Amino acid sequence: MPSDDDQISSAELQLSESAEIGEASLDDKHRWSELASLINDAQEAYYGQDAPTISDAEYDGLMRELQDLEARFPQLRTPESPTQRVGAAQRITDFAPVTHLARLLSLDNVFNTQELVDWLTRTQRLLATADPSWLCEVKIDGLAVDLVYRDGRLTSAATRGDGRVGEDITPNVATIAGVPHLLQGEHIPALLEVRGEVFFPIEGFADLNASLVESGKAPFANPRNAAAGSLRQKNPAVTASRPLQMLVHGIGAYEGLDVRRQSQAYEFLAGWGFPTSPAYKVVNTTDEVLQYVSYYGEHRHDLKHEIDGVVVKVDELDRQIELGETSRAPRWAIAFKYPPEQVNTKLLDIQVNVGRTGRVTPFAVMEPVRVAGSTVSRATLHNAWEVARKGVLIGDTVVLRKAGDVIPEILGPVVELRDGTERSFVMPTHCPICGTELRPEKESDKDIRCPNSKSCPAQLAERLFGLASRQSFDIEALGWEGAKALLTSGVLSNEAGLFDLDAEQLIGVPLYTRAAKKTDPPEQVVDGRVLSASGHKLLANLQTAKDQPLWRVLVGLSIRHVGPSAARALAERFGSMDAIRSASVEELATTDGVGLIIAEAVAEWFTEPWHIDVVERWAKAGVRMADESAETGEGLQQTLAGLTVVVTGTLTGFTRDSAKEAIIVRGGKAASSVSRKTDFVVVGENAGSKADKAEELKLPILDEEGFVRLLESGPATEIGSLKQSQSIEG
Ligand code: IVH
Repeated sequence: MPSDDDQISSAELQLSESAEIGEASLDDKHRWSELASLINDAQEAYYGQDAPTISDAEYDGLMRELQDLEARFPQLRTPESPTQRVGAAQRITDFAPVTHLARLLSLDNVFNTQELVDWLTRTQRLLATADPSWLCEVKIDGLAVDLVYRDGRLTSAATRGDGRVGEDITPNVATIAGVPHLLQGEHIPALLEVRGEVFFPIEGFADLNASLVESGKAPFANPRNAAAGSLRQKNPAVTASRPLQMLVHGIGAYEGLDVRRQSQAYEFLAGWGFPTSPAYKVVNTTDEVLQYVSYYGEHRHDLKHEIDGVVVKVDELDRQIELGETSRAPRWAIAFKYPPEQVNTKLLDIQVNVGRTGRVTPFAVMEPVRVAGSTVSRATLHNAWEVARKGVLIGDTVVLRKAGDVIPEILGPVVELRDGTERSFVMPTHCPICGTELRPEKESDKDIRCPNSKSCPAQLAERLFGLASRQSFDIEALGWEGAKALLTSGVLSNEAGLFDLDAEQLIGVPLYTRAAKKTDPPEQVVDGRVLSASGHKLLANLQTAKDQPLWRVLVGLSIRHVGPSAARALAERFGSMDAIRSASVEELATTDGVGLIIAEAVAEWFTEPWHIDVVERWAKAGVRMADESAETGEGLQQTLAGLTVVVTGTLTGFTRDSAKEAIIVRGGKAASSVSRKTDFVVVGENAGSKADKAEELKLPILDEEGFVRLLESGPATEIGSLKQSQSIEG
């Protein structure tokens, strides 16, 4: 086996040879040599050790740069260059070498639609016949295997290796469910070499890692590594214990078989008992290829295995032969790679966040990195136990994963890249914000909390922000900045005084004020400032919020474990804050959707005097503490039954959501577009095309006052007043 040093020196050798030729500068040659050795090392780690040191995206980037360099200076492209080789160089292993009957090639990659269209056009141009059919299939993120069948019997199974010689893993492959030992059906060829991809199903991956960690072993960074680790086991019983699967994606050498198209080969293979991908499709146009690519871009998580792209192949085998291959990859196939969902980045620090209920959560601060379409620099680490489980140290290069819209997650460290400067994370013993000694959570041995819920500034701000959210009071003008401003200005010391806020107090919060103008009424000016539009909006929002249903008020109290579902259940069962407060734990716990943990948290919450103070002050300020009717609107006068109302533009007393809810709970339909079926259009400030359309269709238009009257008394009065005003105008 050439050691890493051997590989570097062979790269350097190329460098000295090529020094005489062409125009490549010394810098270019150095870069070539550097890229070649980086790629060689990465290949050895990936194929040889099953322990990648760089992400697939970084690897693709290095390879692309090397290819570009060699395209500019062809004299650098030597047979030993990584661009001319398939996979890792041969190495000594515990497995016997097997020479493949036909070479196993790799694939060239494209990374965007334009590159794919260029490839399709170029390939089409190279072919003598017009309009080839394209076979589109998903690119399974697994491990290539080469299986040989003689007279229908599995005689050998090998890894890809360098494409010519692989490792004999027959006993291991034979344990994989779905790999036929004996082919069934008719016209079984005398010799058949089949290529496929072995993968670890996503579903079983989390369970495997959990059991590895439980038995004190390191978890796998991703399902591909799990497949590789499970397959290259000296003991086939270990492979057999893992839920590996295989899908076939090609044939190599064969005798006694007449096959014309790759897709026809798949049909034969399926007939003989091989697992073929359900996702392949033969198409005839560039547009259809692009549609396939875009479909699997959207649905890449709908399959039972991971995919890192799509493979497009010329379907006719004669055309494949006509196009031929380079030393590394066929000219008749291309891999379209999707943006990476897994990247490597540096873990700069682990800090802790203090949440709404005091829970102290460590989170990772990383060098910003682009993954799955967005830039990520933070990821939660949940608790100290999780940090230990993942085995990450501050300063590590870590594998970060973000699949689609899923929250970014650190999978683990790249241990091979440590240089000794990394340090362990130590969970603080005191709250980093208020200094109070932290305590373990009652119900969990893994989480800790800051017990100073009354005055820890972090918890106060999180609670204020939380109660303003759409899940609770829906106070649009109170965001994160607003919450912090109300607290730091001293206008609020906690949430108890929120609904007492008035213009006089709010003028003391710079965020909600602006410099006074000459036109402002002098009685509203304090120290040259008046309330800004957002200040007025906050006061109006607070007024409206007082009328929110009981469940939203409950969510706003930040009782541990009481989110919207539990709050709705409690409100429905008990109907009022008083009834909830005086209910026993048993009564609370027997509510549908409320268990003992929630019941105990609620009962305990009401034992704290300052909590009672919050409830009482809110009630005094006019916050609704009982649902006379159920929150669904039962019992509320169904003033809008059968009517469709569209609200457009900004209203002062309603947010978009609260206006909708007000319509729905009164039996109406809140529509988002104006049509002839619309009964009323409520037009606020800065309304756009919907208001124009309402006029065009001569629909009844209401301002905010009219809307409030409509909600209270139904359409009779509104139509009456509309008619009146229209007749006056007309
Ligand atoms: S065809 C001559 N089809 O991707 C063409 N390969 O990056 C050989 N792979 O070595 C491959 N899914 O292990 C082909 N649907 C698919 C594939 C696929 C995954 C792997 C295969 C190949 C590697 C190249």
